[in-house]
Amino acid sequence: MAATNEEVQGSYGRCLREKGFINRFYELLLAKDPRIARMFEGTNWTQQNKALRRGISIALTFAGGSSIVERSMNEMAVVHSRKGKVPVDPSFYVYWRESLIEAVAECDPRFNEDLRRAWNDALKATTDYFTKSY
Ligand code: HEM
Repeated sequence: MAATNEEVQGSYGRCLREKGFINRFYELLLAKDPRIARMFEGTNWTQQNKALRRGISIALTFAGGSSIVERSMNEMAVVHSRKGKVPVDPSFYVYWRESLIEAVAECDPRFNEDLRRAWNDALKATTDYFTKSY
């Protein structure tokens, strides 16, 4: 049976309790493509890790169908749009989803295939949204 949004949120909570989770995600993402690594050359990682934790939380709330995150979603989409502060080519989003799910698989002791599918669907809602706003 498909995992619910609450189960994905629970999985995320277990990952955040693991110290290296966000670092591991970025390690995986930057290794996917040298163009991605180059984008992060001047990054303040303390700030970025915080921004991502918040970003994932917004993405999961959005996937759960809640409209309270609409404004935050728009702001993030604008940052990564063609004319935004940090344009991200939509073809990179598959790497983003893969890296995050790989990090979750390593960090969540209760990870399984239902969770993998539910995580992917949830993240895809956000990356599709960013792609549309590109
Ligand atoms: C492959 C996909 C992505 C790449 C390559 C990417 C790259 C970046 C880079 C280079 C920055 C700026 C870091 C710096 O300040 O030096 C950034 C900021 C940020 N990204 Fe992404 N990103 C991706 C996907 C996403 C997604 C899907 C989300 C949302 C869930 C997201 C949320 C954010 C947020 C919230 C910030 C901080 C923005 C700010 O400081 O105003 N990113 N991203």
